[in-house]
Amino acid sequence: MDSRDLPEPSLPGVLDRCWALLAEGQRLRHSPFHQGVLGTLSRRGPATRYVVLRQVDREQGVLGFHTDRRSEKWGEIERDPRVSLCFFGQGQQIRAEGLARRHAGDAPAELAWKRTGLMSRRCYLATPGPGTVLPGPGSGLPAPLATRRPEEAESAAGWVHFGLVQVVLARLEWLNLAFEGHRRARFVREGGRWRGEWCVP
Ligand SMILES: Cc1cc2nc3c(=O)[nH]c(=O)nc-3n(C[C@H](O)[C@H](O)[C@H](O)COP(=O)(O)O)c2cc1C
Repeated sequence: MDSRDLPEPSLPGVLDRCWALLAEGQRLRHSPFHQGVLGTLSRRGPATRYVVLRQVDREQGVLGFHTDRRSEKWGEIERDPRVSLCFFGQGQQIRAEGLARRHAGDAPAELAWKRTGLMSRRCYLATPGPGTVLPGPGSGLPAPLATRRPEEAESAAGWVHFGLVQVVLARLEWLNLAFEGHRRARFVREGGRWRGEWCVP
C-alpha cells in the first residue's frame, strides 16, 4: 500500500503514539527518544542541553530526569521552573513544556537513586561539581574512580549530589515529517485531561 493511502491519524491516536515513543525512550537505551534536549531559562538567556529520559508517567503527565544538584540547570530550575524538553526520532519531533519539580533527599529521589546503576552513579562522585574550571582536561573524578565502576559503598558519596527533576507537563506537541505532507498536533493539559488540536506544521 502506498503511504499516501494510509488513514490520517486521530488526535487520541497521536497522543497515544507520543506517550508510547516516550515510554520506549525511557526503557530502551538505543531509542532516539532515550535523551532529549532540556531548555531552561538561565541568567544569560535560554540554555539547552541533553538529558536522559528516566521517568515517563502518562497518568500524572510527568517526564523525569536525573541531574547533579551542583549543576547550573539545578539552580536555573530553582529560579524559574518553566522548562521544555524536545525529542526527535523516526521522523517525529515531540516537544513538551511544563513546570519542573526538584527532588533532593526525599522519597522520590531515593527511589530513583536506588534504581540508578553504578556507572551512572559515578557521575555524582566528581569533586568539585560540574562546570568547575580545571587546570587541564579531566573528569573531576577521584583518581581511582576515573577508570572503573565504583563499588556500591563508594557510590554512596554521590547521593548528596543527586537530584531528580520531574516535569509536570502542561503542553505536548507532535510534528511528523512526511513526503506526502507534514502533520502537527498540539495538546494542552487542563484538569488532568489532554485537549488536542491540529495545526499547520
Ligand atoms: C546524550 C547525553 C545525555 C545526557 N544526560 C544527562 C542527564 O541525564 N543529566 C544531566 O544532568 N546531564 C546530562 N548530560 C550532560 C548535559 O547535557 C550537560 O552537559 C551537563 O549536565 C551540564 O549542564 P548544565 O551546566 O546546563 O547544568 C547528557 C549529555 C549528553 C550528550
